[in-house]
Amino acid sequence: MSAFSRLMYLAIQKTARYLPDKAPDPLRHRHDQLGRPLPRVDGPAKVTGEARFSAEFKLERLAYASLVHSTIAKGTIAKIETAAAENADGVIAVITHENAPKMQQPPIVPPFNSGERPKGTAASDLPVLGDNKVHWNGQPVAVVVAETLDQAEHGASLVRVLYRAERPRLSFDAVKHEAATPADVLGEEPRVEIGEAEKRLSGADVVIDRIYRTPRHNHNALEPHATVAVWDENGGVTLFDSSQYVYGVRDTMAAVFSLEPKKVRVVSKYVGGSFGSKGNVWNNTILCAAAARVVGRPVHLALSRRGVFNVVGGRSMTEQRVAIGADRNGRITAIIHTGVNPTTTHGAFPEPFGAPARYLYATDALLIDQKIVHLDTVTNAAMRGPGPSVGTFALESAMDELAHELGVDPLALRRINEARKEPSTGREFSSRHLLEASQRGATKFGWQPRAPRSQRDGTWLVGQGMAAAQYHVVRFPATVRVRINADGTAVLQTSAQENGMGTVTVQVQHAAERLGLPVDKVTFEYGDTNLPKSAPAGASSQTVSLLQAFRDACEKLQREVLSLAGNGSHGPLSRSRFDQLEARDGGLFRSDDAHRGETYAAILQRLGREFVEAEATSGLPFETIKYAMHSYGMQFCEVRVNEASGEVRVARWLGSFDCGRILNARTATSQFRGGIIMGIGAALTEETLFDERSGRIMNPSLAEYHVPVHLDVPHIEIIYTDIPDDHTAGGAHGIGEIGITGVSAAIANAVFNATGKRIRELPITLDKLL
Ligand code: MOS
Repeated sequence: MSAFSRLMYLAIQKTARYLPDKAPDPLRHRHDQLGRPLPRVDGPAKVTGEARFSAEFKLERLAYASLVHSTIAKGTIAKIETAAAENADGVIAVITHENAPKMQQPPIVPPFNSGERPKGTAASDLPVLGDNKVHWNGQPVAVVVAETLDQAEHGASLVRVLYRAERPRLSFDAVKHEAATPADVLGEEPRVEIGEAEKRLSGADVVIDRIYRTPRHNHNALEPHATVAVWDENGGVTLFDSSQYVYGVRDTMAAVFSLEPKKVRVVSKYVGGSFGSKGNVWNNTILCAAAARVVGRPVHLALSRRGVFNVVGGRSMTEQRVAIGADRNGRITAIIHTGVNPTTTHGAFPEPFGAPARYLYATDALLIDQKIVHLDTVTNAAMRGPGPSVGTFALESAMDELAHELGVDPLALRRINEARKEPSTGREFSSRHLLEASQRGATKFGWQPRAPRSQRDGTWLVGQGMAAAQYHVVRFPATVRVRINADGTAVLQTSAQENGMGTVTVQVQHAAERLGLPVDKVTFEYGDTNLPKSAPAGASSQTVSLLQAFRDACEKLQREVLSLAGNGSHGPLSRSRFDQLEARDGGLFRSDDAHRGETYAAILQRLGREFVEAEATSGLPFETIKYAMHSYGMQFCEVRVNEASGEVRVARWLGSFDCGRILNARTATSQFRGGIIMGIGAALTEETLFDERSGRIMNPSLAEYHVPVHLDVPHIEIIYTDIPDDHTAGGAHGIGEIGITGVSAAIANAVFNATGKRIRELPITLDKLL
């Protein structure tokens, strides 16, 4: 989540002077675990039902909450009638702005340029049930708490709200001329200008200058947002809350309820997906805690699918202009990527669609300019690949248009314009093998340029498309603890959650490798603010962040073990230096003498110690300031478009990625695939339909908001370069979000290749092809 990265950039830009290049690990270990396709270590708990998700904490005297949502987009509540609900069977309390407990405004991550430090991670800073104002259609205006969920929902249906409606701003097209420059675009300047792009464009041999549009999207995680909140006698609160960042929830709730952060405990171990929707704190979590305080009992608040659409903002729509000028040989001379997206006055999330143009292609002149307007809606937020997901739709469609115009192979066009330095900053790349990934992908896919509308299979027109994928590398400081017990087992601890991506599995592999233990001797305790503070699971950063901290903690622990077992003792490791050792076979051994060494268990037992442990905090991510660091990929697909109906079927997919070292072949492949599947949804079906008269979301269900189902998804082949980046711990880059990027452009380009029709507005539905 780039929102968090703003804090980092702020801290780093003030302090970064010099980055020492990575020193080799002083202690040797065998590279026998990372990279293996180890099945998920949390898999058995999930498939047996032993894993408890937030909504499943059945505390004693648990009461259930249901929300009443506003039905207007803007105005005030004139009257709220709660008597019928209060008198209904099982209802314990009806909480409105008239009787809600005192709460502070939720703290949002402030704009980077403001210089403020984040005090929380709320998506919106509007007071929650703080007054009678309505700011969006779907805003929670009352909470009904009852003995059972059915009774709470029935109670909620009985609450009558009378509004004084005001005229809302709901039409993007009506207000886009008011677009203004935001303070920042998630840590980046909203405007970059290198050379005279407009001038170079108008003087170019070949010019592509187009407008691309993408609609609103909503995250539809398998597990809708859920919280169980319980207050204790000491005025503290515990929340079981479906989250990507338990410490962010803790700090936000502490601010809202005016508590010391340590009075708030947040538990979120297993999370059924999130895609960015659980990186912020939304009204539901705050209202659950407020309700639990009012009724003096634990309260359960699980959003319905419709509730998620109402309360949790998705991805903003965008209108983007991409203009590219090139010479006759295909060399790009100017790139312009500008545009507008609507957001709200109470949130702070400009969709950073200009990102890929900052990083992908060499050009003499570059202009990026991002603007925003404000609408009266639920505030938008990060959604998988925020920025590049929709930014690559525009940029990579335009690249395809340029290739067609020039009559060159789109693959060759990328080769001609490969950036040697980061175009927007001039920084060196830490590791970039995009061309290698592209070439390998093209070979494996069987890529060859084919004329538009030249392939047919009965009534089906067939076409191929390709598009680049990109997502930047982010790392956050994290604190972790590693313990080795006298029985030779190890325990890893940090507050990170397992959002389903394989984080836990990879860290177990990593620690096992560094410690020289088999993976089944390593367990991981996670998902709880009682544990050391992890990095958030956002911006594809959690794994890389934890790798660094666990590397440091393992080293610290092993030095401690050596100090216990080495000098001054008569054990086999006496008079050994740390850099003479190798971790293997459950202990430390001399690398120059295979027989000299001792297992951790033997050392601890000999010394009568129950365990040894070490904690480490990784430092600020200086490397991401010194170097341009990105994950890359090239997406290749084949589509079939029915000439009679306009139906688009994705027939074949190959994603070829360059994301540093791949840490687990199985979970990584699954991450890439998941991103591509989500991209197929964005390309062909996903669109949050929004009534511009009322501000109501018209399709808040999976019956009407269409995510891909099995029949929509072909076999997806994944390959990767697996070339380590020497500037990150473990050589890895993030992989969680890049999979979705480039996908909608690859499909649009394939649709053009099949039909000769260029679709510049997502989703590519049948009506646009007929
Ligand atoms: Mo992400 S969309 O940064 O969780």
